[in-house]
Amino acid sequence: MHENITRLRAEIEAYDISTAEQLDQFRLAYTGRKGQLADLFDQLKSVPQDERRAVGQELNQLKQLALARFTQRQEELESAANNAPADPFFDYTLPTVPQALGTRHPLSLVREEMVRIFGRIGFNVAEGPEIEDDWHNFTALNFPDNHPARDMQDTFFVTRDPANPTSDFLLRTHTSTVQVRVMENQPPPIRSIMPGRVFRNEAISARAHMMFHQVEGIFIDEGVSFADLKQTVYYFVQEMFGADIQIRFRPSFFPFTEPSAEIDITCLICKGAGCNICKQSGWVEIGGCGMVDPNVLTQCGIDAERYTGYAWGMGIERIAMLKYQIKDLRLFTENDLRFLRQFEGVG
Ligand code: DAH
Repeated sequence: MHENITRLRAEIEAYDISTAEQLDQFRLAYTGRKGQLADLFDQLKSVPQDERRAVGQELNQLKQLALARFTQRQEELESAANNAPADPFFDYTLPTVPQALGTRHPLSLVREEMVRIFGRIGFNVAEGPEIEDDWHNFTALNFPDNHPARDMQDTFFVTRDPANPTSDFLLRTHTSTVQVRVMENQPPPIRSIMPGRVFRNEAISARAHMMFHQVEGIFIDEGVSFADLKQTVYYFVQEMFGADIQIRFRPSFFPFTEPSAEIDITCLICKGAGCNICKQSGWVEIGGCGMVDPNVLTQCGIDAERYTGYAWGMGIERIAMLKYQIKDLRLFTENDLRFLRQFEGVG
């Protein structure tokens, strides 16, 4: 028995453990449940009683030695594997994998272009809150209490008291609210545009949405006339869509402007030939406009005897649809990347 232990010790000490496979073979041969150490422990039963203690100790020491070698080599092999140098044939001059950039939303592109176009003729940008009070959305704009004109715009109310409509809070139905805020806070001359999100209680379809965007504008100074308004609209349409687009003004009604008009341009989807988008007329409406009603000026603290002004409001979605030939308004809010990637170079 003693000789067997001595022989095994020599074997264990000399065993070459340089690879993970050899480590495994070492475990199977010596320390494993069916290994040679287990065999010797089995044979301990047949060792005479008086020697058994000493042989047992010797055997235990050998087992400790074998286990220590095993764990030491295991740790060494693992850390060597972790610190292995990278593939020596890796080509560090290869170009990197390009990082995909997002693209700007078509509505942002159109909004930014509108800001630039009006900026070139001196309009600055004004902003206001999306939750408004009745005054800024209706009353200051000449919508009297309980006047049917308030029904022109299906409003989402935040708080509503039918007995006292002027105390209502609501989601703004147009960005004309910001025109009021600018007039209240700044003496003429005023030359501002107000891009922003507006809300109306409408069923969502290819042509209508409960949330959309407008760019409104206002110009107030001494001697401002309807001719100035028309010239500004012509300028904008030609900058946005090109010089060969036809424009027409149709008489209309808004409580806050007098006279008022709707602005139509040649339908860019069918080039004026007639299609579903323009209801076969060859014309599409892009917004409303007019001379600011003197009542509105007075209510906002501006001397209506001295100053006149024009204002307009346009839908950003409508302009983007015409510019990019988009036939369904819902595409703007569905966030389909295949749609969103088409409008700006990268992506
Ligand atoms: N606020 C109107 C709307 O949302 C659009 C509009 C028409 C704005 C005429 C104006 C304007 O400033 O003068 O339908």
